[in-house]
Amino acid sequence: MSYLDDKLNISITSASGIEAITKSELVKLGYSPGGAIIGRISLQGDFCDVARCNMFLRTAGRVRINVAEFTAATFDELFDEVREVEWEYIMPTDAKVIVTAKSYKSTLFAISAIQSITKKAIVERVKDIRRVSSLPETGATYSFEVSIVNDAVTISLDTSGVSLHKRGYRTLVGEAPLRETTAAAMLLLSNWKWDRPFIDPFAGSGTIPIEAALIATNTAPAINRSFAFEEFTNARNVIDKVRDEAKQLIVRDRKLRISGFDIEPKAIRLANFHAENAGVKDYIHFQTADMRTVSSRFSYGVIVSNPPYGERLMKGAELHGLYRDFGKMFRSLDEWSAHVITSCRSFERDFGKRADKKRTLYNSELECSLHSYFGNMPRKSESRTEYEEN
Ligand SMILES: C[S@@+](CC[C@H](N)C(=O)[O-])C[C@H]1O[C@@H](n2cnc3c(N)ncnc32)[C@H](O)[C@@H]1O
Repeated sequence: MSYLDDKLNISITSASGIEAITKSELVKLGYSPGGAIIGRISLQGDFCDVARCNMFLRTAGRVRINVAEFTAATFDELFDEVREVEWEYIMPTDAKVIVTAKSYKSTLFAISAIQSITKKAIVERVKDIRRVSSLPETGATYSFEVSIVNDAVTISLDTSGVSLHKRGYRTLVGEAPLRETTAAAMLLLSNWKWDRPFIDPFAGSGTIPIEAALIATNTAPAINRSFAFEEFTNARNVIDKVRDEAKQLIVRDRKLRISGFDIEPKAIRLANFHAENAGVKDYIHFQTADMRTVSSRFSYGVIVSNPPYGERLMKGAELHGLYRDFGKMFRSLDEWSAHVITSCRSFERDFGKRADKKRTLYNSELECSLHSYFGNMPRKSESRTEYEEN
């Protein structure tokens, strides 16, 4: 019997501004998540649910298991409370223990002292219970985070390892790439479904069209990567089961109309390479083209895009001109919708149209707005989704 056989308090991190979408994803997966506070959603479940959240959530950053909660305002209290936790039940004796910490508005704020005292208390406890003089730390890595907010301490075990925005397909770096999780959030907010045409006119390394193709083929975002929890005791059966579930859910026989354009041939080469890595190359048409020349014979399509912005990529008159021409290109399309992320405050003025909806999203640390222009919906379509809010 291991700790991971019990009911677990699961905590899912999600970037600020997209918590509600992650919560909708959880509902769609069949769960009843608890409240969403800034950057975090709670869920009660078992270890299989931990594995499914890692595998299937497109917008989550990390999946953790909360293993202890208490208050501590002194290092003695921290040591004693940590020592009370049944670590011998949570991890094997040979576990390699890593402790990270963060503190906000709390009496204890010296991060490296919080980390070393927590680790010392864990090691002391396990040594005493197992009656050994030292711990080998040669086994699986168990990485714990100590989070202290207003003196309330939460210790959680990371199950994801590398952050979930890293799906594994983007092995080369393009210019100003968007996080895969942010791209997925924009797509889920856009009302787009596989039966509608899709264009990203500023595709760069291909992230948005690739995420669109993963959604359209019902491919789990993390199908090609591994997780920290796979090393945990008894995890083998669980991960095999969840990988099988993910493989069976893939739908390959849909005729998709997903296109990505970029003015840089190098970007398009990168996008094709990443699409191949992600297993969706056959579903996306990437082409080198200036956005100004892009058109479509289809109606009711959707644009989701991350055009240039920020000092480094483009600024001043050139940027305003680009957005003006982007607005013209958009208006030449019949009954299309557009969802555009940018930090540029004059975007709507340049684009020539006030957005139907604006929401704050972050591109890494940079505060941006997602500008949504909702066109009419096609009359006969499966296209209404669970994520729409308009
Ligand atoms: C912010 S990057 C897009 C990054 C992309 N979302 C990704 O994840 O890799 C903007 C892209 O717009 C492209 N671009 C700039 N001007 C363009 C134009 N007139 N037509 C098409 N693409 C253009 C740049 O080459 C750059 O790759």
